[in-house]
Amino acid sequence: MSANIIRGGIAALFLLATTSLVIAHGDVAPQPVNTDALPEVGEEWLTENPYREAKAGHDTWLKAVEIGSSGFNQNCARCHGLGAVSGGLAPDLRFLEAEEAGDEWFIERFRHGYTQDGTTKMPAFGDILGQKAAWAIRTYVETRPEDGALDAHAKRLHEIRDELGSGKVAAATELKKELETIATEVKTASGAPIADSVTYEAARILSDAPESWKKAAEVLTVGLSATE
Ligand code: HEC
Repeated sequence: MSANIIRGGIAALFLLATTSLVIAHGDVAPQPVNTDALPEVGEEWLTENPYREAKAGHDTWLKAVEIGSSGFNQNCARCHGLGAVSGGLAPDLRFLEAEEAGDEWFIERFRHGYTQDGTTKMPAFGDILGQKAAWAIRTYVETRPEDGALDAHAKRLHEIRDELGSGKVAAATELKKELETIATEVKTASGAPIADSVTYEAARILSDAPESWKKAAEVLTVGLSATE
């Protein structure tokens, strides 16, 4: 299959997903978020993200991003945009600073929502989804790459994608290292130190196993098509 066909297929899938999101807009029951894999944070609402990497450690942080991604895309994306890239319906959450002031504001809105002149513009999620889901979603949001974050690396990432996609990879470990290095240069809009970019995701997937090459190539294809 050529990269173009793959890209076309993925674009079509995205279109389907977005269409059903648009149709779903309106009163939709909040979707529960399974947070069992995350450490407990107590009853009292905190004012700072307990799953931020510096506080929680890398593995917990990664779990929080993963759980937050699904929590966000099920509960928030229909207003705040797929992948937290706002389409203009509601504020772009990627810009809330990844520190206490940004966290407090995030939690305030998450818990209580927002009502204007008797109309609910944003439902309250606090009692329904709970605190662990709140901070997982917060972690996901603050680790989104800023717009155009991959542009400077697009040429090299295409080459890596093509090599992985060809199934003929000379040194997978070297490519993994290179992706990891590029990943550290990708910036977040929130100021959080690590961006969970497709580059980083591809690096995590990539190993010596040929099955992983195809998967990593697909992840890069999706990410790169978004920058074109
Ligand atoms: C039905 C639409 C809708 C949904 C669903 C929704 N929001 Fe919102 N959200 C809004 C609107 C509209 C605003 C702007 C309110 C205002 O003017 O302060 C907002 C504001 C916010 C803000 C403040 C942003 C800022 O820059 O001031 C945060 C944080 C936020 N939402 C988080 C979330 C999270 C997290 C979820 C999912 C759990 C979510 N929202 C789901 C509509 C929505």
